[in-house]
Order: sequence, then C-alpha cells, then structure tokens
Amino acid sequence: MGIINESGKIIIAIDGPAASGKSTTARLLARKLGYTYIDTGAMYRSVTLKALEAGMLERLHENPEEIEPLLDNIDIAFDGDRVFLDGRDVTAAIRENRVSRHVSFISSLKPVRDILKQMQRNMGGRRGVVMDGRDIGTVVFPDAELKIFLIADASERARRRYAELVQKSGDNNSVPSVDELEREILQRDKDDAARTHAPLKKHEDAVEVDTSGLTIEEQVTLVYNLALEKTAV
Ligand code: DC
Repeated sequence: MGIINESGKIIIAIDGPAASGKSTTARLLARKLGYTYIDTGAMYRSVTLKALEAGMLERLHENPEEIEPLLDNIDIAFDGDRVFLDGRDVTAAIRENRVSRHVSFISSLKPVRDILKQMQRNMGGRRGVVMDGRDIGTVVFPDAELKIFLIADASERARRRYAELVQKSGDNNSVPSVDELEREILQRDKDDAARTHAPLKKHEDAVEVDTSGLTIEEQVTLVYNLALEKTAV
C-alpha cells in the first residue's frame, strides 16, 4: 500500500524499454494532473555527458570507481522541459548520439545509481510526481501508488525514434536509418535488462501497457484514468 498524503497526491512510476513512449506519456500525464514530471533518463544522460566532457570514458571501462569524484557535488536540475547540469543548460547535448551510445554503461555503475536514486527520492519526497525510467517502480519508489510498465514493438519504437530525430534535426540525412536505430534500441534493451544493479524489469504490481497500436492521446488517457482510480480512494 502506498501512502497518500493530505493533498491526495500520489507518485506515478512509468518504466519500460527505450522509446516505448515513456517520456511523452509521462510529460503529458503530469501536465493533466498538475504534477511535476521527472525524466530520470535525462539524469543518467547528464552524468554520461559529464564523464565524456571530462574525457574519462575509456579509463572508466578499466577503473569504474574513478567515476566517484565526478559525482561529488554534481548538480542536476529541471526547469520545465529543460535540464541543467552544474548550472548549464544541457537539454540538447544529452540527446546527442555520443551520449546515447555510452549511457547504458554509465548507468550500470553502482555509485552512479546510488547517487541518482537518492536525488530522485528527494525530488519525489513531497509526492505529486510522475517519474519515468527503468527502475522507478522496482527500486526508487517501490511504494508508488501507480506503477506502469510501457512496452512497444521494437520496429515501432525505431520508427518513432526516427521521426523524433528527423523532427529535431530538421534533416533526415544526418539521422541514422530506421534499421540502425532498431539495432541500437535492441542492444540498449539487452544491456539495461542484463546489468547487475537495478536492471530493467517489470514490478509485479505494475500495469503493463502495450503502446504499439496506440496514439499518444490514447496512451495518456489510459494512464490518466488509472491515476484517477488511484486518487479517488
Ligand atoms: O530513457 P532514456 O533513453 O533517456 O534513458 C537513457 C538510459 O539511462 C537508458 O539506456 C538506461 C538508463 N536509465 C536507467 O538505467 N535508469 C533509469 N531510471 C532511467 C534511465
């Protein structure tokens, strides 16, 4: 049983594999409920960017514990849809392919997971949050009143990711092909599910939602109705 505070606000955990629709669903759901949206993938991406900029990636594969000084006093903050790393706006930089390629490795490191888990628990402490990631329902907030596990076909996820990248870059020549994206997505799913610390997995209480044939509106409405059921007690 989760604890619903006096304001009736709850914690909603949305987990699932890459490009399953988590962030779009979570963001719109938070807006509809008047909740705060927290994109925990952006936090792992920010740490990855910091390691890349420090030129540490290669060394970390040999000596993962060298990540620790980098985590001292790290500051990751959200302002609406923008993400700030140590006070700098990194919203665009954390979506670059070089970050996507290394984020599974960085997120497999225990010191990284420990510090981000603590930050996420602090951010959700007052409830009224929608948090998306891979381990929110299983590790960060196992007492979240509503846990959703979103899935979708790999080919559909690759098509969505392609459309999103083309829209963002404004030109489809600089974007990897749908096949290439599908291979990357499947590899990332495998890495995220196989890691030792907090692997991607569905909590037994989570409601599984397959978004393959659904529009964004349908996904949001479905999850919104589940949230209303939880807050109406
Ligand atoms: O959701 P995303 O693609 O932005 O996430 C980037 C990576 O961060 C993903 O490959 C796995 C990792 N991640 C994680 O390990 N735990 C989370 N709660 C969120 C993301």
